[in-house]
Amino acid sequence: MGDNDDELAARRSTVPLFDPRQKLKLGLFSFNVSGGMMATSVPTSYELSWQHTRQIARQADAMGFEALVPVGRWRGFGGRTNFAGESFETYTWAAGLAEATSRIMVFATSHVPTVHPILAAKQAATIDHISGGRFGLNLVMGWFTAEMEMFGGRQKEHDDRYRFGTEWVDIVRRLWTDQEPFDFDGRHFQLKGAQAYPKPLQKPHPVLVNAGSSAAGIDFSARACDVNFVGMGSFEMGKASAAAVRQRARREYRRDIATMTYATVVCRDTEREARRDYQAMVDAIDWEAIDNLTRVFGLEGQSYGDAESVRKLRTQFAMGWGGMTFVGSPEQIVDQLLKTSAIGIDGIMLGFNDYVVELEHFDRRVMPLLKQAGLRT
Ligand SMILES: Cc1cc2nc3c(=O)[nH]c(=O)nc-3n(C[C@H](O)[C@H](O)[C@H](O)COP(=O)(O)O)c2cc1C
Repeated sequence: MGDNDDELAARRSTVPLFDPRQKLKLGLFSFNVSGGMMATSVPTSYELSWQHTRQIARQADAMGFEALVPVGRWRGFGGRTNFAGESFETYTWAAGLAEATSRIMVFATSHVPTVHPILAAKQAATIDHISGGRFGLNLVMGWFTAEMEMFGGRQKEHDDRYRFGTEWVDIVRRLWTDQEPFDFDGRHFQLKGAQAYPKPLQKPHPVLVNAGSSAAGIDFSARACDVNFVGMGSFEMGKASAAAVRQRARREYRRDIATMTYATVVCRDTEREARRDYQAMVDAIDWEAIDNLTRVFGLEGQSYGDAESVRKLRTQFAMGWGGMTFVGSPEQIVDQLLKTSAIGIDGIMLGFNDYVVELEHFDRRVMPLLKQAGLRT
C-alpha cells in the first residue's frame, strides 16, 4: 500500500467524512437498536420504528452531520429491558436511509463472519449507488459470543478473528477496485473468478472503518481501513489509542488513517438540569442487562482493557457502550468536544437518550457555539 496520500487528497473534495472544513466531524450512533445508546428505562420518545429512524436521520442530515452509524447486533442482553434486543439489520437500514437523506454518509456495521465478502461487496456497491457515493462500511469481528454462535460454528480466538477479517477485507477491496475477475487462495476463502460489477461510485472505494482498539484491531485498521473508531473510556485512553493507530499506519504501512470516537450527550440549558436528568437515567439503568454485556465484553473485547477495567466502566457501558457521557450546559458540552478534538480525534459520533428532542436542542444551543469555537463551519 502506501498509495493512500493521493487517494485521501481526492476524497477530501467529495466525501463528507473527509471534508477539511469541518475540524470535528459529527455523526450519530446506535439508533438502529432498542434502547439506542442507553440501557435505561427513563421516559423517551425514542422508539425503533422506521418513521422515527428516518426522522432522526433527516434531522442529522439537515444539521450538516457527516455520518449515520448503526450498531451490528443480532440479539439483546437480557434484563428487564432486553437492551438492544430489537434491531434493524444494518445494510438494509443504510439502503433505506440513503434514499431518505441527501448529504450525510450512511454506514452499515458488518460482522465479518456473518456475511460472505462477495455479498457484502455487492450490497455495499449497491448502497453506494443508491446514496450517490455516500456509503461507508464499519467492520466488526464479533465479540458477543452468543450472537456469533447463532450463526453456527465456534467463536474464533480473538486475534484469529482479525486474521479472518484480513482475508475478508482484502477480497472486498479487490471486488470494488479490480477491473478483472480474480482467484483468491487464502486460509479461510478460496474463490474462483471472483468479480463484482458495477464498481462503487466512491473512489477508490467506500470508506472503510474498523472499530477495534486491541493490538490486533489497531493493526487491522492501520493496514486496510480509512478510519479507526477509537473506544474512548476517558480522554487519556482515547488519546493513546488514536496515537497508536495513527503511528502504526504511518510506520508499518506508510498510510494516514483518520480516527473517530463516540460519546453520549446529556445537554440541558443549565448544568444543574443536565446533572439531574443524567442521574435519573443512571437510576433507571437495567443492571442485569449491563452485567450480561460487560461479562462477555470483559473477556472477548480488548478495546477497554481487561475484565476488571471493563467492570469499573459499568456505568459508561450502560450509558453508551463504554464511551464517555458528556453532561452539562451547552458551553460545557462544547468544552468536552474541544478536548476530544485536542487529543487528536477527527470526529465523534453522538448518542442521546431521546434523539429527536435532544438533537433539536443540540442544533439550537450547541451548534452555534461549535462554530464559534472553530470546530465547525
Ligand atoms: C465505535 C465502535 C462501534 C462498534 N460497533 C460494534 C458493533 O456494532 N457491533 C459489535 O459487535 N461490536 C462493535 N464494536 C466493538 C468492536 O468491534 C470491538 O470488538 C471491540 O471494541 C473490542 O475491540 P477488539 O476487537 O480490538 O478487542 C464497536 C466498537 C467501537 C469503538
